[in-house]
Amino acid sequence: MASGEGIALVDRDEQGVDRAFRADVLEGLRQPQKAIPARWLYDDAGSQLFEDITQVEEYYPTRAETEILRTRGGEFADAIGPGRAVVEFGSGSSVKTPLLLEAIEPAAYVPLDIAGDFLRAAAEDLSAKFPGLPVHPVEADFMREVALPDAAAATPKLGFFPGSTIGNMVPRTAVDLLRTMRATLGAGSMLLIGMDLIKDPAVLEAAYDDAAGVTAEFNLNLARRINRELGGTIPVDKLRHIARWNDDFARIEMHLEAQTDMRFEVAGESFALAKGETIHTENSHKFSRRSSNALLLAGEWTPVKRWKDAEGRFSLILAEATIARSAP
Ligand code: AVJ
Repeated sequence: MASGEGIALVDRDEQGVDRAFRADVLEGLRQPQKAIPARWLYDDAGSQLFEDITQVEEYYPTRAETEILRTRGGEFADAIGPGRAVVEFGSGSSVKTPLLLEAIEPAAYVPLDIAGDFLRAAAEDLSAKFPGLPVHPVEADFMREVALPDAAAATPKLGFFPGSTIGNMVPRTAVDLLRTMRATLGAGSMLLIGMDLIKDPAVLEAAYDDAAGVTAEFNLNLARRINRELGGTIPVDKLRHIARWNDDFARIEMHLEAQTDMRFEVAGESFALAKGETIHTENSHKFSRRSSNALLLAGEWTPVKRWKDAEGRFSLILAEATIARSAP
């Protein structure tokens, strides 16, 4: 991941503190149920820990989604057709993107990412693997509408949003993002999106609380990051990682639970947690066929085809930009 220098999109104060990080953490810690937006899990250490998570036995989503991409190339080619510019939301360091590009004869590849260094590295990797393919990286926050490069303007688009990252958003934010993607990609576009499926809560909880403790480290790293970057005094060794299934909201929640009563400071402000209280650090929503359809439709995408891995754990869904119609 990007190391910090030369990133115009991060606003830092005179001490080099990321202002948005500090504001989100302080606001989140003042709430009765403390909560910090999950995006702050991904500093350099957190991004590396997430890569490690994808290798642990219990964490199936990456393997399941990769299996679909590896085995269904011909079906993707039929359903998507050749000649689209593939716009990836968050440029993958993964093996997933090449599998898609190999399958469909794209006209161009346009990775979007907020982390410029990471973006350019990923773009170079892809160019090396696909010598004839035009690659146009765009450093941008894809939560907002992005102006795509002129070179891709006249080409029909395929948005690619793998990993079930959409599941990290509450429905309101997920719908906003889907509508923003629709605006970025334009009429006639398609979207290929990964969504993890609802399953046995024991399987889900194990996937987010692996025996080797990698996910626990990933979660605890957020508290360490707060201590490091925001002058925090959180007693990290007295926090415990928790992953619990919330059946009403169909999501795995990650929390940091206080093992004892504690007081600490962050950026000069005092906070307390009683024993058993938690800081909520991530949601990972899971979907059924109907709930994924409902979410996509609310975001102005019409589902047209879906694929699952052999064990039925994960889905990749192809949708078309919804055409405005008159009522009903
Ligand atoms: C990369 C955000 C999709 O929710 O499964 C993995 C993040 N968190 N283990 C997910 C994550 C804990 C992952 N996403």
